[in-house]
Amino acid sequence: MIRVAAVGDVHMDVDVLGRYRPSLEQLGERADVLLLAGDLTRHGTVNEAECVAREFGDLPVPVVAVLGNHDYHSDQQREVTKVLAAGGITVLEGEGITISCRDVKFGVAGIKGFGGGFAGRCASMFGEPEIKDFVRTTEQAATRLQAALLSLDADVLVALTHYAPVPDTLLGEPLEIYPFLGSYLLGQAIDSAPTALAVHGHAHAGVERGVTPGGVRVRNVAHPVIRQAYSVYQLDTASPGRTPVSQGAGRGIDSLSHDV
Ligand SMILES: [Fe+2]
Ligand SMILES: [Fe+2]
Repeated sequence: MIRVAAVGDVHMDVDVLGRYRPSLEQLGERADVLLLAGDLTRHGTVNEAECVAREFGDLPVPVVAVLGNHDYHSDQQREVTKVLAAGGITVLEGEGITISCRDVKFGVAGIKGFGGGFAGRCASMFGEPEIKDFVRTTEQAATRLQAALLSLDADVLVALTHYAPVPDTLLGEPLEIYPFLGSYLLGQAIDSAPTALAVHGHAHAGVERGVTPGGVRVRNVAHPVIRQAYSVYQLDTASPGRTPVSQGAGRGIDSLSHDV
């Protein structure tokens, strides 16, 4: 088993410092890796990024992150990434990383992603250049996620995005904003590889659990959804692929005292 802890949308600033840290101190006993699913800051400033590094840096397990739309708001995403990296947090944007966990090669492919909507209810490459740019951005993100997933030589493969790859986990969000919450193209990319689990954030009013059309388990770990410092998912290394998440893992060991 690989134990994957994950949380997103922590939206750090000085007033949030210390909210997560007490639960994170025991992380080494509960998980093998921590994934951060974007919107780590409120407005994407360097000061806020320093709060993220203080709260989630120097932990006993590797920490892998993607940025979210909030982390781009101040046009300082490069500086934010540098601050997080200096804190020991690996930030992925269209790349993958392999981590050795007890003789198991654990692979994470990560990208922020983008909106666009879901099959039958999505924007298409038609009309004004602005719409084409919007759709092109999503297509490029999905293509890069697919390439990152397929490039990894891993025993267990996880996709990490900020935007949602499926509509299942958006349940509770207004239908009108679904196109701004995710894209089915991300789901297609996830299904094109032997992905064991897809983790995302962004949908604060959504639900935790979903599944791609290809059967990959999807988990929305936005903090307002999971309502704890992190959720932990157990992935069975003996049967990577479509049915790897332990039965009940989402809540089974989630329900430890990580509440914040
Ligand atoms: Fe958020
Ligand atoms: Fe977001």
